[in-house]
Amino acid sequence: MCGIVGIVGNQPVAERLVDALKRLEYRGYDSAGVATLAEGDIARRRAEGKLGNLAQKLAAEPLAGTIGIGHTRWATHGAPTELNAHPHTTDRVGVVHNGIIENYRDMLIDLAKDGYQPTTQTDTEAVALWVSRELARGAQPEQAVSNTLKKLRGAFALAFMFRDDEGLLIAARHGAPLAIGYGNGEMYLGSDAMALAPFTSRLSYLEDGDWAVITHTGATIRDAKDAIVERDVQISQTSALMVDKGNHRHFMAKEIYEQPETIGHTLSHYVDMGTEQVSVREQMPFDFADLSRLTISACGTAFLAGAVAKYWFERYARLPVDIDVASEFRYREPPLEKNGLSLFISQSGETADTLAALRYCASQGQHVASLVNTVESTIARESHVVFPILCGPEIGVASTKALTAQLTALASLAIAAGRARGVLSAEQETELVRALISLPTAVSEALGTEDQIMDIAKRLSKAKDVLYLGRGPMFPIAMEGALKLKEISYIHAEGYAAGELKHGPIALVDEAMPVIVVAPSDELVDKTLSNMQEVAARGGKIILITDPEGAQTVGQGVADVILIPHVSSFVAPILATIPVQLLAYHTAVFMGTDVDQPRNLAKSVTVE
Ligand code: F6R
Repeated sequence: MCGIVGIVGNQPVAERLVDALKRLEYRGYDSAGVATLAEGDIARRRAEGKLGNLAQKLAAEPLAGTIGIGHTRWATHGAPTELNAHPHTTDRVGVVHNGIIENYRDMLIDLAKDGYQPTTQTDTEAVALWVSRELARGAQPEQAVSNTLKKLRGAFALAFMFRDDEGLLIAARHGAPLAIGYGNGEMYLGSDAMALAPFTSRLSYLEDGDWAVITHTGATIRDAKDAIVERDVQISQTSALMVDKGNHRHFMAKEIYEQPETIGHTLSHYVDMGTEQVSVREQMPFDFADLSRLTISACGTAFLAGAVAKYWFERYARLPVDIDVASEFRYREPPLEKNGLSLFISQSGETADTLAALRYCASQGQHVASLVNTVESTIARESHVVFPILCGPEIGVASTKALTAQLTALASLAIAAGRARGVLSAEQETELVRALISLPTAVSEALGTEDQIMDIAKRLSKAKDVLYLGRGPMFPIAMEGALKLKEISYIHAEGYAAGELKHGPIALVDEAMPVIVVAPSDELVDKTLSNMQEVAARGGKIILITDPEGAQTVGQGVADVILIPHVSSFVAPILATIPVQLLAYHTAVFMGTDVDQPRNLAKSVTVE
């Protein structure tokens, strides 16, 4: 959940460490710090809050040194204060850490016997102290770290620097991502390729259990048994330029507006625009025709993409689908059918719960597929087949373009499954593919609702609670609307299946309650609109998202109608995502919250 970087350089590193941390701020941003080695001493600067605070501190009190480590934090153990901010140092070693050390309390009890006392509330300090004790007992840095790693339980990525060696960093990976970058006479390490993009595109990814000794000239990588191993050096496609806001005020706005393009990009991977058929390029170690069941697991917005896909795979491919949030799935230990496919959806490809669910399914002999944005991620690397979504780096913590890209890829895969299972004819496939191809234009048009949505958002920003309703595949979109609103505006919101309203939540409805109904015209729209009338009759303030056909049957009592273009009901959930994103975005802007980095959240959740 935190981001870590390191440089063994031949030029000053402090500013460059901060630059790399900027690209990792999506992983956590409640405090940050850097440490360098100059004139034989480890010195550090740390600051509570955003990275800007650290940059200011460094401007006032610069740090010299050509070797260093840096950290941006999402607190797990200990409050987000300067005291608990990384790097954690002793007189001999500095450490930055992403993840959790589960047995740090036992380690601290053991260390106390030799007089080693922590000064912070973090789990990380136990690691710094343990390495220091090893060094004090005469171990060389490599041996000290190796001994310490064998003691640690948990999921972590670590980077160490040493007072007595100006040319040495040691990095370790166990369950949290870590990449090594190769430069000219300089070496780098970072939590992902984006952090290292300004320095180098030549990267090696450490595998679970690996640890690496990094000097100016290269890296020696060892596996969990300390055997020297080779890890491929790859050329990363991630560019430093990709993390620019352009003309937009927030990354989230930029990413919302990129969607006609990103959906088109995803489509061009999955669809042959000439023949208007789906073409899956990935080598699949299974045939959709033979599958007994599809099991989908994911978290948050990615889970909601899977929830829409359940409707598609069941309806268009007659493939039974089970879906569960990964944090529940992993502990349920469900029995899985022979010849089942397990599909994991994750923008980052690093979400700990999703990864654990994947590992469970792999151990149960399932075919394992993942749908990811980061094809170099752990989830991708542990899958038998990886379906990319190709929407480029998503920086805003609230997921937007990744969701529509996930949905686009899932819709294409559902069509492929439908053809393979003999459910869809070639003509039906063409009809569905045409609907997909119409999406980028429809999304551009839907973005034209922005002015009206800003007006509605101004009023919505005064609400305390908001209900979102949807039916069929619009139900997950209603939940997505609620999730997006709560995470960036901090207004309490719930998404409900429209038909479920009268079984409880309708008791909440009064004149102060905005109810957002997601109901473009489809075979279910009349039923949803009846549920809407039940709300109107109780004074609820209805904001209806529909298309011109749906609007004709609206009836009385609707405060606002947001009109999106009419598209096939197959792709309507993808299009309906646009107004719920804009509504959440502008409500948050009116409220003055930190849209791209909302409180308490992180982009990549690598702890359970
Ligand atoms: C919500 C959001 C989160 C993520 C979730 C899964 O806007 O972004 O709910 O969808 O944390 O993350 P990934 O897709 O990286 O596994």
